[in-house]
Amino acid sequence: MESSRPRGISRRDFLKTSGTGLAGAVLLGAAGCGGAEQGGGVTELSYSASPDDTGSTQKLIDKFNKQNKGTYRVVFIEGNADTGQRLDKLRTQFQAGGENLDVILGDVIWTAELAANGWVTDLTDRFPESTQKEYLPGSVEAIIFDGKPYAMPWYTDTGLLYYRKDLLEQSGYDGPPKTWDELKEMTRKTMAKSGTKYGFVFQGARYEGGVCDGCEFIWGHGGNVLDLTDPNRVIVDSPNAIAGLATERSMITDGVSPQAVTVYKEDESAGAFLNGDAIFLRNWPYVYALIGTSDYPKLDTEQVGVSELPSSDGKPGNGTVGDQPLYISTSSKNPDAAWKFIEFLSAPEQQKFRAIEGSYLPTRSKLYDDPEIQESVPVVALAKTALQHTLPRPVTPYYSDMSLEMQDQFNASLLGEVSPEDAARTLQKNLETLIQQGQDS
Ligand code: GLC
Repeated sequence: MESSRPRGISRRDFLKTSGTGLAGAVLLGAAGCGGAEQGGGVTELSYSASPDDTGSTQKLIDKFNKQNKGTYRVVFIEGNADTGQRLDKLRTQFQAGGENLDVILGDVIWTAELAANGWVTDLTDRFPESTQKEYLPGSVEAIIFDGKPYAMPWYTDTGLLYYRKDLLEQSGYDGPPKTWDELKEMTRKTMAKSGTKYGFVFQGARYEGGVCDGCEFIWGHGGNVLDLTDPNRVIVDSPNAIAGLATERSMITDGVSPQAVTVYKEDESAGAFLNGDAIFLRNWPYVYALIGTSDYPKLDTEQVGVSELPSSDGKPGNGTVGDQPLYISTSSKNPDAAWKFIEFLSAPEQQKFRAIEGSYLPTRSKLYDDPEIQESVPVVALAKTALQHTLPRPVTPYYSDMSLEMQDQFNASLLGEVSPEDAARTLQKNLETLIQQGQDS
């Protein structure tokens, strides 16, 4: 029923989510999933994660289930594609006792909240420092809370610039733009020559992805939201941060981006680009695997280039850190089985499969030197450099509330409802209040 589709979720995702949800519910009802021992000794486990358009998650689950036939069976529970809405739902489930939650694929920004509330398991014994060394340091940092690991890194993420190599070449450009001004110039020329509908599409909606894109514009102009070395110091009301928000807004006023970016999330912006309607796209690495698939047959990989994001001065832009770790719910009745599934997913073989099949960035450092991955997945090869320039969103226990403030101000500024100066001033004040309230409580 189309009318009950939640705001901001694409029809395809909604159908998938509700379909799987139903299937999951039937299974749960019939088999009592959530760690229960079934007749015949089969232990059912739930795996709650975001939808995966690349299909690689389901393939891995099928492989695990086949290997463990008669012992374990994992059921894929697809949540909302919007990380904020997914966390809202999980929070409600945790608060109600966490029934049917075993393994959870989370978002880097959730660790502090999940761990502080006692909802996810301390993995110190299962994921000791000796094993942590095999993973990207940034991905390990993302799962540590109070000095302890609360998850296993699975894949990492960063914002990248996809571009139409073929169209840029036809307009006389032999590479991607290094600055936002160059991107605008290339857009004007290439739109005029090729008749492409849009220039640059990105995620400007009022949600977590809008925070990532807004921060990237701010970082790309030398600004930040919080002081990286002192997360209690808000520094967003600065000329650099304001210049970043002004550039983001100017994408619309200069005719480079459609007004629709103010409501675009990952799917809508990726769809516009993959359907051949845009010259540039800011998105995460997984989009590479979707090029030329049956859902998006219009382009092939030869037509698409991927680079680091532009900046105001031509230095490599800073993409947002977006790690997706695997947590075990403290409510799980079978943490050992949950761990077995996590070990399977994070083994080199499975991480390599995900990189090749879904262009997800591995968290095992060694895989970045794997020749097969380097050759067949250009985004992984690019990420080796790009990951050195990534920046985290504010790391603070008040992140969820801060994110809502950033969502509001970044989106209002992009819409032109407030000036970039006013957005930065309001944000400065509201974030300072949140920190103060947190310290007083
Ligand atoms: C990606 C990132 C995640 C981020 C989200 C925003 O899934 O991995 O960290 O919060 O996009 O939409």
